[in-house]
Amino acid sequence: MKILNDYFKKAKQEKWAIGHFNFSTADQLKAIVETATELNKPVMVAVSEGEADFFGRAQAVALVKTYQEMGHAVFLNADHHKSWETIKEAVDVGFDTVLIDASKLPYEENITLTKKVVEYAKSSNPRMMIEGELGYLRGSSEIQKKIEITEADYTKPEQAKDFVKKTGVDRLAIVFGNIHGIVTEQVERLHLPTLEAIVEAVPDTYLVLHGASGLPDEDIQEAIKRGITNVHVNTELRVAYHDALEKELAKPDESTTPYKILAPSYNATKAIVREKILLFSARKNG
Ligand code: G3H
Repeated sequence: MKILNDYFKKAKQEKWAIGHFNFSTADQLKAIVETATELNKPVMVAVSEGEADFFGRAQAVALVKTYQEMGHAVFLNADHHKSWETIKEAVDVGFDTVLIDASKLPYEENITLTKKVVEYAKSSNPRMMIEGELGYLRGSSEIQKKIEITEADYTKPEQAKDFVKKTGVDRLAIVFGNIHGIVTEQVERLHLPTLEAIVEAVPDTYLVLHGASGLPDEDIQEAIKRGITNVHVNTELRVAYHDALEKELAKPDESTTPYKILAPSYNATKAIVREKILLFSARKNG
């Protein structure tokens, strides 16, 4: 079976991106994995610290393993893990990959913590891919009105080069106009010249686009065309799940059977994952 690194290499060569989707319930996870399998695409599934506290890290590993054993190309990421304690737990219980997000710390401290994670994770599993984060990624995975973002928040290409060299990360989460969540009173746009400069500074590092919910499809495709190989989506899945559930519960019949009540949310999740995977692998990207 191929490892995650093999898929990243292939995606980079062929200019498409691996979809990365968060979950906090077993039916969301099932919807993501089944959709990726139907499309014959590898997929990353992930829990943030909050999602992991709800689901359980060991439980997430165990469940993803059952899909892997069935032959699905699915990989579990510890998304935006910010402390040494939570990320160490993720490594110890067997996550396939981790994102140490120390981007809110002063630069030198980001380097120190990220390097420590790279050394620890690689010593326990030399094939584990580690992601670091640089730049100020604002917002949270919810519907928000407006999030002010300026060029000062963007990842600096020279700093990216220094960061990758000093930490040894395989993937880098960068900021170039992207924000977490969906904004209703502004248009979220990517600043492609910044992305191009970062690609030039760290040509061998896999670059990750976070906060893809609410971004125009053309911006995502242009970013993939320029070198993004991994795209993260969370809020759109949360909204689809929530809205379908709300509609179902508002129906006059009073079913109390969870698998019936949750079926529309499950299908809504599948629809979003399908649309995103097709977008991230569209030929137009080439
Ligand atoms: O890692 C998670 C993603 O960056 C989620 O961003 O909620 O805007 O889709 P999003």
